[in-house]
Amino acid sequence: MNIRDLFRTKSLDELIAETREEGHQLKKVLGPWNLVALGIGAIIGAGIFATIGTAAAGDGQRLGAGPALSVSLIVAALVCAFSALCYAEWASMVPVAGSAYTYSYATLGELIAWIIGWDLIIEYAIGNVAVALSWANYFNTFLGTYNIELPKWMTVDYGTAAAKMPDVVAGAPRVLGFPIIFNFWAVVIVTLITIVLVWGIRESARFNFVMVALKIVVLGFFVVICVPAVKPAHWHPFMPNGITGVLSGAAIIFFAYIGFDAVSTTAEEAKNPKRDMPIGIIGSLIICTVFYIIIAAVFTGVIPYPVLVKKLATEQAEPLAMAMKYANMPAWTLRIVSLGSVIAHTAVLLVFQLGQPRIFFAMSRDGLLPPVMSRVHKRFGTPHVATIVTGVAVGVTSMFTSLEDMVDLTNIGTLFAFMLVCLGIMILRIKDPDRERSFRVPGGAYLLPIIGALSCVGLAVYLPPRSWMRFVWWLAAGMVFYFSYGFWHSRLRRGIPPGPPAPPDFNPEQQLPE
Ligand code: ALA
Repeated sequence: MNIRDLFRTKSLDELIAETREEGHQLKKVLGPWNLVALGIGAIIGAGIFATIGTAAAGDGQRLGAGPALSVSLIVAALVCAFSALCYAEWASMVPVAGSAYTYSYATLGELIAWIIGWDLIIEYAIGNVAVALSWANYFNTFLGTYNIELPKWMTVDYGTAAAKMPDVVAGAPRVLGFPIIFNFWAVVIVTLITIVLVWGIRESARFNFVMVALKIVVLGFFVVICVPAVKPAHWHPFMPNGITGVLSGAAIIFFAYIGFDAVSTTAEEAKNPKRDMPIGIIGSLIICTVFYIIIAAVFTGVIPYPVLVKKLATEQAEPLAMAMKYANMPAWTLRIVSLGSVIAHTAVLLVFQLGQPRIFFAMSRDGLLPPVMSRVHKRFGTPHVATIVTGVAVGVTSMFTSLEDMVDLTNIGTLFAFMLVCLGIMILRIKDPDRERSFRVPGGAYLLPIIGALSCVGLAVYLPPRSWMRFVWWLAAGMVFYFSYGFWHSRLRRGIPPGPPAPPDFNPEQQLPE
């Protein structure tokens, strides 16, 4: 084995040339507003509807921010902003529709690309497990407003039931003495989404605008309906757990911002990336942050911190619904918020569940994963095997895991990917200073990328040791896979020219027709 092989890069010029080929060119159609809407569409989901509860109240493993949740939201937004600028420079330099995996293969070499690709599975697939679980919780709330209720053992994972609901464990049916407890709706929604994606779907800019409008209307409705129930006394003490609570809250609520990186991946389709990339990325982050802060203020003003802590210790998290019930809101308002939330979650599920198979597809085309993962369905033109593998993995995992665990793992994995993206920018400014960049991180090559990388690590420190252990195991498993398969099958190492062209609908993140 030659060490140099590990750091071989794909030719950047070849990659860029491929994008200029007839039939493979993406249209430059996206203006600043499209980019801002794209960001908001991918960002708003389980984070603000579900994770907000744990971020405010904490859990058995850490303290929460309490009413200072709004400060946690600002901290998490800042961490994202540094990484977002680095993402934008990377995307503008490697203007190939792709994810961090593609950029890094062209610039930092195969091993780093593999690590990022493997890590992105956590952001996309595990992130989607969390979104599916939150979807299921809100769907249960929605059905509950019509008095439709599944048995509790079909709405929760064993770990959560054992920790918070002993009566559910006691009442569950048993097979060979083992209690049967799983999340029914989570696996149902993942199955439906997988079927839709195998069949083929194009995320259109118009669809995205509708979704964004809907999410904003639902969150706006929550605010308007709950403001009269806000009691300023509930905001005192503002920081019940001091700065530690604020930072651990930020590490949890970071989940609510994941998705903005989708904006940077459309650099190739932006009309004027130099001006519009920062507008799209920073704009969507600012708008979401403002929204989130208002919601956090209303949420913590409606339900007192001690009540929230107590309730979350014994119930599953649908915090916005919980606050509304606490304030005795009528059933129809609860119905609107839970249905709107279910739809908002579905849009995030689609984007992520669309992205993951396309990353598998790209890795397989490069020989790093088995060829079956880049098979394209003859009739539908979609990467169906990778889509089904993703669907089965996400669906099965969502049956048996808890929202908090999945959010923590997603956050560590994503913060790690962001850190590598920040470090990559510095390396590339040294390695390839003259390459054209339609967007550059302001303030020079080092300042913001260093702050970005450090802030990612700083935030990850506040995630629980259990999640760190899982993440380390995941990376170790990735290394075993790479050295037993990917390294030996790499097309680049073996000097095999790039694989067949992508399927007709191929676009790793988003498909945005005019
Ligand atoms: N930011 C996305 C969400 O909150 C992942 O659902």
